[in-house]
Amino acid sequence: MNKIFKVGLIGCGHIAETYFRGQQYFNNFKIIACADIDQKAADKCAKLYNIKSKTVLEILKDNEIEVILNLTIPQSHYSVSKKVLTSGKHVYSEKPLATYFAKGKELVSLAKKK
Ligand SMILES: NC(=O)c1ccc[n+]([C@@H]2O[C@H](COP(=O)([O-])OP(=O)(O)OC[C@H]3O[C@@H](n4cnc5c(N)ncnc54)[C@H](O)[C@@H]3O)[C@@H](O)[C@H]2O)c1
Repeated sequence: MNKIFKVGLIGCGHIAETYFRGQQYFNNFKIIACADIDQKAADKCAKLYNIKSKTVLEILKDNEIEVILNLTIPQSHYSVSKKVLTSGKHVYSEKPLATYFAKGKELVSLAKKK
């Protein structure tokens, strides 16, 4: 049986819906909680998809979650992905990895270390 990764979503905006649809086509991940800098956006998303709404800090501390899906705005990709990696979780980020090449390289190096 395939492993099903428990995923936490950060960034409950327009593109999130595509990933909720996508999880139906793949049998290897399930979004179980969401968070956003705007708590109302997280609460709305959680209600719509029947998952848990958390703060960003709570989702990073949730031991059940192995992977964070970073769907924040490009300007937040670096800071959010860095927080995820330092919290000991895997991160899957929307493009771009970061808005500066050096910051992107830093994330790749951190991910390799972690
Ligand atoms: N919309 C599209 O068609 C589309 C297509 C491909 C890729 N993308 C990429 O997906 C990402 C998200 O796009 P979108 O259209 O859903 O954006 P959006 O602006 O609709 O949603 C982004 C969400 O992230 C939240 N956010 C921002 N900074 C945050 C932070 N530091 N911590 C927590 N939450 C934060 C915002 O409050 C917002 O709810 C972008 O990187 C974009 O380039 C979007």
